[in-house]
Amino acid sequence: MIIAIDGPAGAGKSTVARCVAKELGFVYLDTGAMYRALTLKALDKNINLRDVESLVQMCKNTKLDISNNQDGSIKILLDGEDVSRRIRLPQVTQYVSDIAKIRGVRKEMLKLQRSIGLVNNSLVDGRDIGTVVFPNADRKFYIDAEFNQRVKRRFKELQEADSQITLKEVEFDLKNRDHIDSTRSCAPLRKADDALCIDTTNMTIAEVVKKILDEVR
Ligand code: DC
Repeated sequence: MIIAIDGPAGAGKSTVARCVAKELGFVYLDTGAMYRALTLKALDKNINLRDVESLVQMCKNTKLDISNNQDGSIKILLDGEDVSRRIRLPQVTQYVSDIAKIRGVRKEMLKLQRSIGLVNNSLVDGRDIGTVVFPNADRKFYIDAEFNQRVKRRFKELQEADSQITLKEVEFDLKNRDHIDSTRSCAPLRKADDALCIDTTNMTIAEVVKKILDEVR
């Protein structure tokens, strides 16, 4: 079985996805983590982020291994190195949408995402899962929340790691990523026609998890 969860940044997707996958005993595939790992590699290697050809080449020469920790969180190895923490660095977040919009990069990731999803019962979250990666997914959800609520949630989450971060910075980042992710020509963020939309603005994580579990069961 494949369950697809899409939606914009800060809507609560990954927390919800992790909990639902754990509850169902499914593999949790966080596709955003894959784009983040590639962004980290490009930054580490000082590759010009406008040099599409080099970025696609880099992507072809990269080995990504994704697995789940005991608590259901994602463990990601980039060419053998555990980068699960570093992919959350603000600099990676700042540039990830620029890498993720490149068609050749997405093509490589699509192959990897499908190869993982097709051999496991999987819960896959991202931006284009229900529309492009698994258009025949058994269940599709689109998780959204009002912009201000998403900013608040993301701010709270980031503040734990970086006490210097400001609400304005988070607001700017979300607006920028929403724009790039939903206006790119290749696999933009969009609700699949057959996805169930859940507005989480006034819902707790537990309520969203329960709603999805009820639907799936
Ligand atoms: O879910 P996230 O914030 O970790 O995702 C990071 C970025 O990766 C996001 O801004 C857009 C991109 N992404 C994508 O383009 N397609 C996906 N399926 C998942 C993420």
